[in-house]
Amino acid sequence: MELGWRVDYAERIAAEHATFGDQEDLHGDLPESAHFWSERFMLPKLNALGVTSVEQLIVDEIGRRAVGSPGDVVVLSLGSGNGDLELGWLRSLADRGVTNVRMRLLEFNPRMQERAAQAADRLGLSDRVELVVADFNTWRADARHDVVVAFEALHHVVDLEHLYGQIRDSLTVDGVVVVHDMIGRNGHRRWPEALEVIERIWATLPPELRRNSITGEVDDHYDDLDCAVDGFEGIRAQDVLPVLLDHLHPSLFLACGNVIDPFVERIYGHNFDMESAAHRDLIERIGTLDDALIDLGVVTPTRLTALFHREPHRLRVHGMRTPERCIRRTSVIDPAGRVSFDPHVADRSRIVQGAGVAVGRTNGIFDDQWVGRSAEIVVFPTADVGRLELTTYLPDWMPRTGNLTIEVDGESVGTVEPKYGLCTNNVPVDLPARRVRRLALLADWSVNQDSAGLGQDRRTLSYVLTCVAFREK
Ligand SMILES: C[S@@+](CC[C@H](N)C(=O)[O-])C[C@H]1O[C@@H](n2cnc3c(N)ncnc32)[C@H](O)[C@@H]1O
Repeated sequence: MELGWRVDYAERIAAEHATFGDQEDLHGDLPESAHFWSERFMLPKLNALGVTSVEQLIVDEIGRRAVGSPGDVVVLSLGSGNGDLELGWLRSLADRGVTNVRMRLLEFNPRMQERAAQAADRLGLSDRVELVVADFNTWRADARHDVVVAFEALHHVVDLEHLYGQIRDSLTVDGVVVVHDMIGRNGHRRWPEALEVIERIWATLPPELRRNSITGEVDDHYDDLDCAVDGFEGIRAQDVLPVLLDHLHPSLFLACGNVIDPFVERIYGHNFDMESAAHRDLIERIGTLDDALIDLGVVTPTRLTALFHREPHRLRVHGMRTPERCIRRTSVIDPAGRVSFDPHVADRSRIVQGAGVAVGRTNGIFDDQWVGRSAEIVVFPTADVGRLELTTYLPDWMPRTGNLTIEVDGESVGTVEPKYGLCTNNVPVDLPARRVRRLALLADWSVNQDSAGLGQDRRTLSYVLTCVAFREK
């Protein structure tokens, strides 16, 4: 596990507890559009794989092992929240006459565990339920498990390697791990190739469909929120699948959804009225587009329903959506090699400093602040500016450096020669306050690590831009 997670771990736990402590119903406020989409675009794919529903899949996997078993079948549910789903599975099994199931709820939020205990009591299931109050990043397996369920839990895990190791080692020989989880980019953000499509759809939407339920505002631009800023929401979502495949073997694998996400999730999803034929039509069209983009390999899925085992199994997948094709290679920023991102992604607030603000789309600056041969920032000087201060960074492995020409509205205002390491470069300018300007940075050198045999990065890179400071006269 990287050290970075450890540093603010206690604060993240506090934030996570605060988020979920009061949530008595985790599933109730899902937008209608989410149900509409999953019935139209997820369920039929599951059905084609012989599965009636996600709940049925879980209940069947437990039931299959319980029927005829002389003792209890032991089920572990990871990040079980209020335990309402698990109690529902127990009841469904009991309705089938299956009662030899012990349900272990692994959850570190004591208030949620308390609610689970009360509900189990009310339903007369207390003797079937065991509360494991533990942190799944450090929990050590203390029992054999026939079935492990990860229902919307793995995208909260920091130490996936540890948890998967514990699960694998505690799984019985014919045990199964049922996964229903999020596998998209960390923080549930969009990768550039998906963001680009969403932004284009966004630009066509009427204001009432762009209302942000958190701020109450109509968003001109889709807000590609990083949900992992404080708690554990999506903290390592992009690693959930690849690390899982390092530890266990799939037998059933259905991955879907990506571009549809903003339209069916809680921030904007409630704007869609499923009684309206026009809104239904829109969700239907975006869902169809999303499926095509996934099947073409343009975007990779963000949701996964799957079964995993200790030993290799025959695999059922939807169409060509094999696990390997559903992994987004994180070393590639944009598979199409384009660098046209929302300015938020390139974090304009960090790059532009001093008496200037970025006010438009930033092109050519990757979200890790690497810059290719040309970059463009639309800026608004807030005072009369006499000097631009560019802070750049060049690592030792760069084979060469060169000249960086700075243009304002197409006119060259100076050239600097960034040095290796961190370097501040000054360029005298005369920019009167309060006029939008187009600042271009043009480098006459670049390297592609991959083709130069220097590493795996396939981007064409020139330097890291740490900051452009606008200095007042
Ligand atoms: C999205 S909720 C899902 C809850 C439940 N599986 C459901 O679908 O109703 C994620 C759950 O993981 C729990 N969680 C987050 N980090 C955890 C950790 N480190 N150890 C144990 N549980 C954790 C949270 O408290 C929360 O209940």
